[in-house]
Amino acid sequence: MADKKTANLMIGDAEVGLPILTPTAGPDVVDIRKLYGQVGVFTYDPGFTSTASCDSTITYIDGDEGELWYRGYPIEQLAEKSHYLEVCYLLLYGELPDAEQLTDFENRVTSHTMVHEQMHNFFRGFRRDAHPMATMVGVVGAMSAFYHDSTDITDPWQREVASIRLIAKLPTIAAMAYKYSIGQPFVYPQNELDYATNFLHMCFSVPAEKYTVDPALAKAMDRIFTLHADHEQNASTSTVRLAGSSGANPFACIAAGIACLWGPAHGGANQASLEMLRQIGSVENIPEYIARAKDKEDPFRLMGFGHRVYKNFDPRAKVMKESADEVLDLLGVHDNPTLQVAKELEKIAREDDYFVSKKLYPNVDFYSGIILEAMGFPTSMFTPIFALSRTVGWIAQWKEMISDPQIKIGRPRQLYVGADKRDYVDLDNR
Ligand code: CMC
Repeated sequence: MADKKTANLMIGDAEVGLPILTPTAGPDVVDIRKLYGQVGVFTYDPGFTSTASCDSTITYIDGDEGELWYRGYPIEQLAEKSHYLEVCYLLLYGELPDAEQLTDFENRVTSHTMVHEQMHNFFRGFRRDAHPMATMVGVVGAMSAFYHDSTDITDPWQREVASIRLIAKLPTIAAMAYKYSIGQPFVYPQNELDYATNFLHMCFSVPAEKYTVDPALAKAMDRIFTLHADHEQNASTSTVRLAGSSGANPFACIAAGIACLWGPAHGGANQASLEMLRQIGSVENIPEYIARAKDKEDPFRLMGFGHRVYKNFDPRAKVMKESADEVLDLLGVHDNPTLQVAKELEKIAREDDYFVSKKLYPNVDFYSGIILEAMGFPTSMFTPIFALSRTVGWIAQWKEMISDPQIKIGRPRQLYVGADKRDYVDLDNR
């Protein structure tokens, strides 16, 4: 990243030269850090549509080309050739591991998969019908009450232990939230199983019967984890960074990320998307829903469509669509009505001028629900699965921020448009 040229901005009679920074890839960035100090004005950018909040070496998105790289590696290659724990290593440490590093990392994660036994009682305080995301926000936030020895963010060793604990325990916590919601006993992790197989085993096995996870389904699960692992400065990642900038402990920061992810405009879209496909029901009903999505008076949106950054096909959706076909084939599900509606909806939307002109393409959430449903997950588990996959991305971004010597508390300013200064009026005179 080098200073290339300067942007000159006139504010009244004052001229200010703002350095232009050139990234490895992507558009140039005007550095406005000294703007307020020099000329006393702020910039205004609600929703951060034109604002880079940090520099980062982790993930890059080219929204026009529909490209996503983790540490420079294209997502398609990682989805095909790598696996989730290797991707976690890559995101956390910047390079692909050699065989010894990978084994060591896998052992470190595996040795932390169990949760403190007292946490089982903590789960039992929730209503059985609580949404698993509600339970996860609470339980992950409460991890700082169980793992005091890894909350000192000034200690690199504690930061590392907290990171490994979060990656290792999130599948256990997500599976426990699911088991609790259906009234089944918690299933302890089995450390001889790989990460994805272990998660499926904790979700679908019961003590009364032997349960073997289909390796092909475990592979599809692992790919879903990989596709969701990081996505640069999205809403939940920015939430984690903002929470972390105050010095909050990592468990509290990740809980904040989970809370943000839950919203239907973000990670909650995978649940909303499948529910929408079910509601559409059959291909004949698609035109009605397309018309509603285009109607400005109707708040309905096509869930799983559109993205702030991608103005082209979301590369994760492409892989997810292929995976959906593979998984349904494997399970012998032919003529799946939801998949038929999804494919037809995509086809119609991609020919419709409204969607074409606004560059609205299917995103990662459009096809993931079809795979998860076929695996046996209820829709309420879709966003928890997104959360457990994204935990590594949140941690990698949080660690990058904490170790940046320039770290400052995140503190946006505002354009105040409220009442001007005025005197208090006594109750009798109002
Ligand atoms: N259906 C119909 N119209 C849409 C949609 C949609 N899904 N998405 C955007 N638009 C329209 C929107 O009405 C607006 O039209 P106009 O310019 O005439 O006012 C235009 O496209 C731009 O939309 P925006 O809301 O200003 O764009 P944004 O960048 O602020 O929002 C988004 C991005 C993802 C929140 C939005 O596309 C959306 O709500 N999509 C549905 C929810 C969804 O699938 N979210 C998952 C995103 S990917 C995974 C993740 O982030 O977790």
